[in-house]
Order: sequence, then structure tokens, then C-alpha cells
Amino acid sequence: MSDRTPRYPFTSYPNGWYFIAETRDMKPGDERSGIVCGTRILFRMQSNGIIVLDNAMQCHEDNGLLYVFWGTQQKEVMRLPHFVELRDDGWMGPFNHVFKIRSHVQDITENTVDRAHMVNVHGYRSAPACHSFRIDGPHLVMSTEGPRTMFGITETIKMDITCYGVGLIETYVVSDHVTTKILITNTPIDEDTVRINLWFAIKKQGRLRDTIHRLLVPPLVHREFSYDLPIWENKIYRAQPILCAEEKDVANYRRWARQFFQEATVNEVAA
Ligand SMILES: [Fe+2]
Repeated sequence: MSDRTPRYPFTSYPNGWYFIAETRDMKPGDERSGIVCGTRILFRMQSNGIIVLDNAMQCHEDNGLLYVFWGTQQKEVMRLPHFVELRDDGWMGPFNHVFKIRSHVQDITENTVDRAHMVNVHGYRSAPACHSFRIDGPHLVMSTEGPRTMFGITETIKMDITCYGVGLIETYVVSDHVTTKILITNTPIDEDTVRINLWFAIKKQGRLRDTIHRLLVPPLVHREFSYDLPIWENKIYRAQPILCAEEKDVANYRRWARQFFQEATVNEVAA
């Protein structure tokens, strides 16, 4: 533990599920490791196709993505995203962008509910409307809709978002022309650093459109995400921020996020 002043007045390792590694190319007997919350975790593929860890942590695999549960709270009630589109013939992908940044998982997931920044950062003509905002224990579910102009064309962007704790964000993005399913996995690597994996699949619509979407959508998703990175790296945490009307969900989000910090996370695994 260092004696420097921490950037956030709470742990960098809130309770919850975190993505650790891809497993789709693993064969029985293969061993790998990944870092979650400052801890290197070893795992191996068994002959029956089941992944096991070298410690008592709980893990879960879904469509080639492996997650581990950090902490002791809410293990029984917290669901995980089911990303069938990642390997579905009706969808193109998976596409993946990886970022490693100086931030906190709570700040990155907070971007989801911050509708005001969609205008200045992501080119929306006005802050998207929030059609629903529902808290379901450790899950936060919301849907938004707003106008956005790109290449001189204005279209409506609809988003259906589910946050599974502060480590996983699943989003369906439906515009007038393309439908995308995005999974953002935010994994704390150490006290200052988060590794973000941006997984996405694009719904197929026929050969011509698919060719165009395959060329255009991945760099556009990467570009939009890149706009957020310097903000996350330089945000200053304020316990009592001044919020505008479109930011009221930020206060609701932070109240929801408190549940992941209620108990000091017990580091049960070998470092
Ligand atoms: Fe953003």
C-alpha cells in the first residue's frame, strides 16, 4: 500500500464479475493466466471443456469469454451478460478493441448514464431522451433515444443498456441503418489502471450492406470510444458534483453503485 493520496476515496476493486480472458482457442490441458484486481489468476481447460481456476474464486464462461467474481457480496444474485450474437450466423464478428487506461471502473460505467456528454463528445444534436431507468439489485437497465448527425445524415439512435455491476455493460445500439450489440468489459488491473475490452457484433443485412458495415462500423466504434478516454483519464472525483438536468441519472447511478463497495473486498486468492 503506498502512502500517496488516492485519486478516488474508495477501493479500486469493487465487488462483481470481471472479464479475465478469451477461451475460444483453448484446448484441453491448456493453461493461461490473467490479471484481475492486482492478482494474477491461473486457469486451465479440462478434458470435459470446463475451465477451472487455481484458487477458490468463482468463474463463468460465456461464448468464449471467461469471467471471475471478485469479492464476496452478491455472488448469488448477480447475473452475467449472455452474448450469443458473438458467435451467431446472423451477426458479423466478433470485433474487439482493447484499451488500457488510468481510471476507475465506476467512472467508465458512469459514462453510460451521462446523457449530457453525448452532445459535446459524441455529436448528438441534443441529449438523448431516457425512456426507462430501472434498478434491479446489482443490475441497472435503461433505454435511451436521440438524434445524431454523421456524414451529413441525421438518424435516431436507440440504446438498450444493461450494467451488470460496474464491470460489465451490455448495449444494443439500433440506428436507422445498422444494429450493433456491444459488450464493454472493464477490469481493474491495479489500483490505477483499467483494461477495457470492447466486444461487438453487427447484425447482418445482406451482402452489400454487410460489406459497408464491416468497413465502417469498427473504426467508428473505436473513434467514439477514443473520445471518452482522455476524459476518463483526467476526471477528478467530486463527492458532491454539480449536475445539470440531463445528469440526474448520474446521482441515481452513484447511489446504485454504492452496493458494490458496502463491504471491504476480501482478497481470498493467492497473490
Ligand atoms: Fe461516452
